[in-house]
Amino acid sequence: MYIDLNDKITRFLVQEYVNKICYYSSKKELNWNIHKLIHTFSVADMAQKLINETKPALSKELQKQILNSAILHDVGRCYEFKNGEKVHLDHGQVGAELIKKHFPEMTVEANSTLYHNKCPSDKDPKSCQTVLNYVRDADILGNIKYEIEKTDIWLSHIIGDNKEAFRHSSIDREILSAVKEQRPANLKNMNINKILTSWLWQLCWYYNLRTKAAFKIALKEKLFFRLRDTICQKIVPLTTKNKKKQKELIQKIQKTFADELFS
Ligand SMILES: [Fe+2]
Repeated sequence: MYIDLNDKITRFLVQEYVNKICYYSSKKELNWNIHKLIHTFSVADMAQKLINETKPALSKELQKQILNSAILHDVGRCYEFKNGEKVHLDHGQVGAELIKKHFPEMTVEANSTLYHNKCPSDKDPKSCQTVLNYVRDADILGNIKYEIEKTDIWLSHIIGDNKEAFRHSSIDREILSAVKEQRPANLKNMNINKILTSWLWQLCWYYNLRTKAAFKIALKEKLFFRLRDTICQKIVPLTTKNKKKQKELIQKIQKTFADELFS
């Protein structure tokens, strides 16, 4: 997708990020915002693919709301740094407040941004459920596509020299239970600061997908197969230098996330 700054939504998003990028306080903040800006447009691209896969079942209005929401869903993320350090805040809530302030008429986009980073549940607002389903699926698939296609730059941007993140070479129990029970993995029961866990967790996002279009695209582009293979080829060797341990871990990952799971 060509990034068109004549579009007011795109212009607002880019303006928010560029202001943070140009006035960064640490390398970590600079890398984070560059990464999140690129991530946003991989999600927007994916949202367009999901729309194309579903057409003509979606009205023109819904299509526009999905695209707008995909572009705006992580606008709150560029506020996650203070004095160069990452702080804890609900980026969905921050984003929703920004949308309400700058685009008060966009209630669906504000609501889907507020909920996009929460687990799907009965509390999801029915007024934007379709948009929310598409944005969450685009977020998952866009993120995976970006990470498998730009793994090395992702690693240097997000992990940098955080050696601690690499010191972990076993499959988290919560991930094994999630796969066994065919359900999303519970974030609260894992340490996703460990790089292997954070990547294996994304394989469990298969169980978070909501739309038929997302399953179709995932299969067509072999996104989950490619993610699993990227983990085996590029992430596992970072977690241990011991070749025997690497081989055992790869075999376990291939067995846990067998082809049938994503077919
Ligand atoms: Fe996102």
